[in-house]
Amino acid sequence: MLHYREQVLHMESVPLDEIVRHIGTPVYVYSLNELSRRVRAYREAFPDALIAYACKANANRVLLAHLTHLGCGADVVSAGELRAALSAGIPPRRVVFNGNAKTDEELRLAIQVGVRVINIDAREEIVRVAAAARDLGRQVTVALRVNPGLAVTTHPHLQVGAMGSHFGIPPEDVLPSVAEVMRESHLRFWGLHFHVGSQLTSRQDLTMIAQLAAEWVHRVREAGYPVEGVNLGGGLGIGYDGADTPSPQDVAAWWEATLAPLNLSLILEPGRWLVAPVGVLLVRVVQVKRTWGRTVVAVDGGMNVLLRPALYGARHRIWPLREGEPVRAVDVVGPICESADVLGRDCPLPPLKNGDILAILDAGAYGRSMASTYNGRPLPPEVVVDGTTWYVSPSGNG
Ligand SMILES: Cc1ncc(COP(=O)(O)O)c(C=O)c1O
Repeated sequence: MLHYREQVLHMESVPLDEIVRHIGTPVYVYSLNELSRRVRAYREAFPDALIAYACKANANRVLLAHLTHLGCGADVVSAGELRAALSAGIPPRRVVFNGNAKTDEELRLAIQVGVRVINIDAREEIVRVAAAARDLGRQVTVALRVNPGLAVTTHPHLQVGAMGSHFGIPPEDVLPSVAEVMRESHLRFWGLHFHVGSQLTSRQDLTMIAQLAAEWVHRVREAGYPVEGVNLGGGLGIGYDGADTPSPQDVAAWWEATLAPLNLSLILEPGRWLVAPVGVLLVRVVQVKRTWGRTVVAVDGGMNVLLRPALYGARHRIWPLREGEPVRAVDVVGPICESADVLGRDCPLPPLKNGDILAILDAGAYGRSMASTYNGRPLPPEVVVDGTTWYVSPSGNG
């Protein structure tokens, strides 16, 4: 998808310098074909599941519309994301509403538009969802988000199902919560939701998700309650360093023996795996300086346009737009007045001068959606590459 032709970095058939010439920097560029390939891989691995794409990863309107066209639904966590999904054409019956702090207004909106399922994050939330449904004279389908107390191997900020995490319902409250839901005539209990973390690449962690889900399904069924389905969240990681990581097909194979006998319907909420490798962020070198024995390359977009390095210590590959021998390791820093604004340390790059363009890879997930206007800088435009053509896309942060 990304390759050098005549020493210029191309996305599909489009030379990226052409986009920079017309649009400037910083700019996000996404490949529609790569998105199609990745969605197909997920759907082939899980043909019977609802793939509810996690809009938080990237709510760009063209990408959302394309995901809809490819049969995906959406996982949304706010009224803004819900509206973005609906306006991209995602049918409400394919929308899953998540979130640990849904307001009453958001709950009402979700019920009014008729989302497929609301994932309840707290035992205390049950009464609020029931009240909203009662007020609207509707019955709403709900799942309970279980916090199984599993610390997966990833950055601590991305462990959301570990002991002590504020997400989901702790183990001791799960059965009482199911009982409460069953007592509410305006709620229909569908099943259990698990999302324990993001950027997961270990077979053990990925396998454990299905095993824990199966254990909980058994417990709830043994207590006499029906479980129709499970939502196993997102979390599948990618190789930010270019290394191979488990594919959806691998995960499906690891889960098969555990899930098949349970006769459940399945919802998945992948975000990163679908869109991270689809996007690059292009930035321009503003200043190269030597300081404290290092070479520091300052570019025109940093933590304001790509927060992941500052927030998670993430390392993205950084490639020059014009191919060249990497001769030295330099630090690439952004323009923001924060010492955390470092896009990459010791990056192998050719000699650079002011005006040169760098591409930050795998920036399609949690890039533009986390961008801010900090330091008075505008949000970056987004461009979509479709084979040989490209166009500026309307943006959407939800
Ligand atoms: C509830 C839920 N589902 C799905 C996702 C998507 O995760 P990922 O992008 O790792 O697939 C997230 C991410 O934070 C989440 O919180």
